[in-house]
Order: sequence, then C-alpha cells, then structure tokens
Amino acid sequence: MEYQFPKDFWWGSAASGPQTEGTYEGDGKGPSIWDHWYQEEPGKFFDGVGPSDTSQVYKRYREDIQLMKATGHNSFRTSIQWSRLIPEGTGEVNQSAVAFYNDYIDELIANGIEPFMNLYHFDMPMALQEKGGWLNRETVDAYVVFAKTCFTLFGDRVKKWFTHNEPIVPVEGGYLYQFHYPNEINMKQAVQVGFHENLASAQAIAAYHQMDLGGEIGIILNLTPSYPRDANNPEDVKAAAIADAFFNRSFLDPAVKGTFPEELVTIIKELDMCPDMQAEDLTTIKENTVDLLGINYYQPRRIKAKESAMDHSHGPMPDDYFDTYDMPGKKMNPYRGWEIYEKGIYDILTNTRENYGNIKCYISENGMGVEGEGRFINDQGVIEDDYRIAFVSDHLKYVHQAIQEGTNCVGYHMWTCMDNWSWTNAYKNRYGFISVDLANDAKRTIKKSGHWFKEVADQNGF
Ligand code: BG6
Repeated sequence: MEYQFPKDFWWGSAASGPQTEGTYEGDGKGPSIWDHWYQEEPGKFFDGVGPSDTSQVYKRYREDIQLMKATGHNSFRTSIQWSRLIPEGTGEVNQSAVAFYNDYIDELIANGIEPFMNLYHFDMPMALQEKGGWLNRETVDAYVVFAKTCFTLFGDRVKKWFTHNEPIVPVEGGYLYQFHYPNEINMKQAVQVGFHENLASAQAIAAYHQMDLGGEIGIILNLTPSYPRDANNPEDVKAAAIADAFFNRSFLDPAVKGTFPEELVTIIKELDMCPDMQAEDLTTIKENTVDLLGINYYQPRRIKAKESAMDHSHGPMPDDYFDTYDMPGKKMNPYRGWEIYEKGIYDILTNTRENYGNIKCYISENGMGVEGEGRFINDQGVIEDDYRIAFVSDHLKYVHQAIQEGTNCVGYHMWTCMDNWSWTNAYKNRYGFISVDLANDAKRTIKKSGHWFKEVADQNGF
C-alpha cells in the first residue's frame, strides 16, 4: 500500500441535522430560519424542495447506520438541531427529540461508529431569529443553555463535540452576500454576529470543560487558503492576507489562540465597527480555546489587489480590500462552480502545524457535489462516480504527506454520507457515498465511491 495512515485514523463522513432529518407530523420540532425562509420564498430553493423533505433520516437512521457500516465508517458527524431539541430556542425540551437523538447515538455506538456531535449548523430557531438571532446577546446565553442541555443529555456517550460548523457562513450568507436568511448586507451587523458566535463557542467550551465529561470539544471551520495572484507583488500579498484575516483567521485565531488577528482588528477599528461586548468577553475567549479542530476544505480563494471600483451602496464590505482573481486554467467542479485544488488541503494542514501549535485536527469535510449523477448508473443500479474516487484519493495523498511531515491530523470525513439537502441548492448537487432516489421513496444505494471507501478504511490506506 502506498498511502498508509496512522493507527486509529478516523474514517467516515459528516452531515447535519437540518440537511438530513426532515420534519414529521407530531415530532415536536420548532421552525428554524430555513423552515421560515422556505415558507416565505419557496422559489429560492432548487426545484422548490424545502427543509422538511430531506432524506428522512429521522425515520430511517437505523437503515442508514447499516449503510455507514457498509461504507467503512468508524465515526460519523451530524448535528443536533437546536429547533428540534428546544423548539422555541429557550425553554421546554422536546422529549421526542431526546428519544430520537438517544436512539440515533446508541445505534451508532452499537455498530462501532463513534458519534461526533455538532451544536450549530446554520439552523437558528426562528423564535430567536425574530429577536435578532446572533445579533442579540441573549442568543449567546440561550445557545449556552442549549449546549449544556446537550452535554447533560448525551455527554455520557458522545465524546467529540463541536460548537459550530463553519461559523463564518452565517456571517457571510446572512449579513454580507445574501445566501442565508435574513439575507442582509450590513458589515457592522456581520461583525457583531461573528463576535457573538465566537463568544458563544468559548462559553460552551468553558461549560463543557467544567462538566468534566471526559471528552473533547472543538470547532469546525471551513479554511479557505488565500493565494495571491502574484506572490512577488506586495499589493497582491497584502490583499490575500486581508482576505485570510476576514474569512479564516476571524474564527481560527480566537478558536485556537484565543485572540483576534491584528489585521482584522485594525480594519474594524478604522471603520468604527467594533462589536458591542462586555468587559469579560475577551478574557472568556482567551481562556477557552478548542481541544480539537475540524477542517472543512473544498476550494481555495484566489486574490489580487483591489482593481475594481468599490461598491458602497450598502456601506463598507470586506471586498473593499481585495478582488477575487479568476486564475486562468484552474481546475473546476463545474456543477458547484468551485475550483478543485488538492494541494490546498496540505497547505492548511501545514499552517496548523507551523502557526497554530500543531493542534490536534482532522479533515471534517471535503467533497464534490455533482449534478445529474443518474447518468452514471450502471446495469446493477450503482452510480459509477469515479470522479469522486479521484477527488478523495487526490486529497488524501496530500493529507498523508502532511501527516508524514508531522501534522497532527487524526482523521478524514467526507461530505457526505448520503446525498442530502444543500440549503437553497436543495438536491441539485449530490455529494454522498450513497445515493438517495427522491423519486423512489428516497431509496438508498451505495455508489462505487462508497464501496471504494470501505476498502480504504478497512486497509487504513490505499
Ligand atoms: C459545507 C457545509 O459548506 O459544504 C454543508 O458544512 C454544505 O452544510 C456543504 O452542504 C456543501 O456545500 P453546498 O453549498 O453545495 O451544500
């Protein structure tokens, strides 16, 4: 075998509650921002498919766990939907949700799959969004109560917790670039939301450590390396460093080092957009850093010095400091419109080793969304997704290299286990090791990549 991974390497995949569970009559789930947005603007969602019609995991998790086994999982991450467990965001706990998550967790463990649980995957309970969502300090308090409730209910069995998945996305999507509810463009609000998410994470980490449940808690970040157009042009390099501070270090630095990056603080001060905070907040963030870092990697960011005119119709924007560089000849995933750059995963891992104390980390998402996979079905009804096998193995080679060089990377999770609901893209692009046939009662079939992944996991390499 050419690429042998360390003993006890985590092989598996990631998903989220809102993208997989679905909603059912009498399940007691409260509305999240996604349920609300879909009700308001169903046309925004690909083919009009909304968040209730996801892959029926709420009912079918037992069957799905068998498929996880058959695809080599020794670990699996999903999220607890806040609006399922505490339908109003605060107050009463939904006992049907407790029963569901308990059984889901127990069933995973009984099948030799370690459950990793994330607490927030873009799914603000609507009752809290109505009061401002992450803009409102009370949401931080409510989140910490929710987190403690999860630790108390499930912490005897769940030993890997994550405070957020990609916390920059609610900032970008909800308050800058309009792809998440509430669909605003307002940099000052974006800064406040980001600050509150960081604070909520630190407070949840403090609570978890205090409870002394014998597990680890971390955060999952989509680290998107920023490459300058020309590494010898100081203006390009500076622009790339600013983009990095906005989109990566805004969460990576506080999560791992307990501090915010100087470049970002300087800009926010110049703009007079410092967030509202209380005296002890920065100390809380300083003192409660993560045990473990999850890294989601899909694509790099190519940056050049600002050349285009600034658009201030909505006030200042991060893009005032850089332009996106459309690099000629880059390799693309045309369905998602994302560049494929395998070495990026190595660069991120090297960065964590060199600049972040070689923190214990794992690849928590990596994957390739493809539209119309039905055209690759063979006579046995299996999707022959050789492109996905190539994508995963090409990235794994770089993960392997980083580990050889000493990076403390302990696992690789694919996005995702089975095709799921991708927010406004709904079921347009499919990411899973397992297909879900929506026209046929969401019938599950393992793809060629799923069979391949089982071999890789069984051999601990390829
Ligand atoms: C990650 C998210 O950004 O990428 C997932 O954690 C998401 O929730 C996945 O589904 C793929 O991106 P998209 O936008 O194609 O769904």
